[in-house]
Amino acid sequence: MLKIAKLSAGYADTQVLWDIDLYIKKGETVALIGSNGAGKSTLLESVIGLVKPKSGSILFDGKAVFGENINIPTRERVKIGMSLAPQGRHLFPDMTVEENIALGAFVEKDRLKIKEELEKMYELFPRVYERKNHPAGKLSGGEQQMVAIARALMSKPKLLMIDELSLGLAPVIVDVLIEIIHDISKSGTSLLVVEQDVQVALSVAKRAYVLETGRIVMEGKSEKLLNNPQIQSAYLGI
Ligand SMILES: Nc1ncnc2c1ncn2[C@@H]1O[C@H](COP(=O)(O)OP(=O)(O)OP(=O)(O)O)[C@@H](O)[C@H]1O
Ligand SMILES: [Mg+2]
Repeated sequence: MLKIAKLSAGYADTQVLWDIDLYIKKGETVALIGSNGAGKSTLLESVIGLVKPKSGSILFDGKAVFGENINIPTRERVKIGMSLAPQGRHLFPDMTVEENIALGAFVEKDRLKIKEELEKMYELFPRVYERKNHPAGKLSGGEQQMVAIARALMSKPKLLMIDELSLGLAPVIVDVLIEIIHDISKSGTSLLVVEQDVQVALSVAKRAYVLETGRIVMEGKSEKLLNNPQIQSAYLGI
């Protein structure tokens, strides 16, 4: 469903990503692990079209969204089924929770359909429903993360990407989010989750990639990675 090949990207004259190969099968949840500045956000932003890669290719659902002479705009990528819940969430703090979530439906014009989607989001996130008329900026970090994920789901993506799922959130909230990720996955959506906490990453995803200074240095089944001595010393402090 997603196939990234030999992707290189960066900003101005600094290269951040080098020869990235990554794939996600239909319905799969994949984690992307890596320390600060490794290039995780740059990779997600390249996939959704917010960063223009220097070379390589990105295939989504059999369609080239980036490649030689191809660079489909973000809006079109959302229309064909990609969505991103960005790092830092980028909510509008003075707008209500519901207004923030509804923004995610910008590709849908039918108000009735938007309302139906909102109802689905409230089923998935009951805590968010209780606060739907509050300004988003007044919510806790965990609730804001739920709003950001709900907003990203409003475009009914085939592939949902979440940048930093658990960063800065209390463990009880992280557990709730992990359950929600499993629910989203059960509904058939593929996921790419950036996560610095290896335990969390490997409990949401069966397969993971490790990114280090812009290169994929490891890839494989979650349990294999958890038992890997290099991962244990670099990320688990074992
Ligand atoms: N807009 C930008 N302009 C210039 N350099 C940037 C820009 N965004 C990121 N970088 C640089 O690219 C590198 C990778 O950043 P990126 O945000 O992709 O890493 P990350 O793995 O997501 O890090 P973090 O864990 O801190 O979110 C860093 O060295 C960063 O300083
Ligand atoms: Mg980042």
